[in-house]
Amino acid sequence: MLKGRPVRIEAVGAYVPPVILSNYDLEKMVDTSDEWIVERTGIRERHLVLPGMATSDLAVNAARSCLESAGIGPDEIDLIIVASASPDYAFPATACLVQNELSARSSAAFDMEIGCTGFIYALATGAQFVSSGMYDRVLVIGAETLSRLTNWKDRNTCVLFGDGAGAALLSPGEQGEGIVGIHLGADGSQADLLKLPAGFSRLPATHDTVDEGLHYIHMDGKAVFKFAVNIMDVAISKVLSQVGKEPKDIDLLIPHQANKRIIDSACQRFGIPKEKVMVNIHKYGNTSSASVPIALYEAIQEGRIRKGNLVILVAFGAGLSWGSIAVVW
Ligand code: ACO
Repeated sequence: MLKGRPVRIEAVGAYVPPVILSNYDLEKMVDTSDEWIVERTGIRERHLVLPGMATSDLAVNAARSCLESAGIGPDEIDLIIVASASPDYAFPATACLVQNELSARSSAAFDMEIGCTGFIYALATGAQFVSSGMYDRVLVIGAETLSRLTNWKDRNTCVLFGDGAGAALLSPGEQGEGIVGIHLGADGSQADLLKLPAGFSRLPATHDTVDEGLHYIHMDGKAVFKFAVNIMDVAISKVLSQVGKEPKDIDLLIPHQANKRIIDSACQRFGIPKEKVMVNIHKYGNTSSASVPIALYEAIQEGRIRKGNLVILVAFGAGLSWGSIAVVW
C-alpha cells in the first residue's frame, strides 16, 4: 500500500513495430500449425522489430505516445524507469538511452529486470517516488524485443513471443483515486524454469555457448504454465483483499498476455465475465513487460475504462515473479 500522497496514472502510450509475423509464416519456419498455436495459446500473430531496431527505439516511441496524450514535454519528467528483459545492452541502462533520445535532460533514469512482471514492479517502484513526494512525474516504460532472444528453430518457444512497448505516466492524484493496492512476489527457488543461460557472469559467452544456443530463452513451458495458473489466483486475491474488494467489483482485469488459457483459467476461477477482461494476445503474442501497458493503452483507446472504475493489472514471469496492482481510474 502507498503510505504518502495518492498516485494516479495520468496518461498511457504504446508502440508496436511494423513487421507482422503470422502463425502461417511460422508454419514455414518450424514444424507447427496455426491450429496448434491458436488452440494452445490464443496467439494468431505477433509484431517484430526491423533489423537494426532495438528495445530503446520501441520504448522511445511508447514514451512519446504517452507524453503526447498527457500534453507535457520531456523536460517535465523527473524519472524514467524502463522494465525490460531484453535491454539494448547489459549496460548502459536502456532508460538512459531513452532519456537522451527524448531530451528529458532533468530526468533520472534506471532499468528494472524481473521478466514479464517488469512493468508491474516498475509501476510499483515509480509510485513510491511520487507518493513520497520526491518526484512529481515518473515515466514507467515496459519495452521488449524478445524476438532477439528467441531461437527461431525451437517451436516450443518461438511461437510465443513478440516485440512492443507501453508506457504510463505517474503523477500525484486525489484521495481515493489512482493506485490503491500493490502486491509483489517472487520465488527464486524456481529460477531455472525460465532463463537466458549464457552471456553474463554465470556463463560468459563463448563459441560453445553460442553453438549450444544458450544465448536464447530456455523455458520449461509446462511447469511455467502450472505456476502461472496458480499465481494469477494468488496475485488477484491478494490485491483485492488489500483494497477490501471482491472479484465482482472488478470493472476491468488487465492480465499479462502469455497464454489465453492462463487468462481463461483465472477468469473462470473468479467468475469474471469476458467483457471485463482485456485480451489482445491474438495480435501481439507475449510481449513480456510490454504486455500489460499495451493492453492498458488499448483498453483506454477502446473506451473500456471510465472514471471511477476498478482496474486490476496482474502479471507473472521469470524469477519466478508475480505482481498485481489495483487502480481506481
Ligand atoms: N507446434 C506444434 N506442436 C508443438 C509446439 C508448436 N509450436 N510446441 C510444442 N509442441 C508439441 C510438444 O512437442 C508436445 O509434443 P509431444 O506430446 O509429442 O511431446 C505437444 O505439443 C504438447 O506440448 P506441451 O508443452 O505439453 O504443450 P502445452 O499445452 O503445455 O503448451 C506452452 C505449451 C504454450 C508453451 C504452454 O506450456 C505455456 O504457455 N506455458 C507458459 C509459458 C509462459 O507463460 N511463459 C511466461 C513467462 S515468459 C517471460 O517471463 C519472458
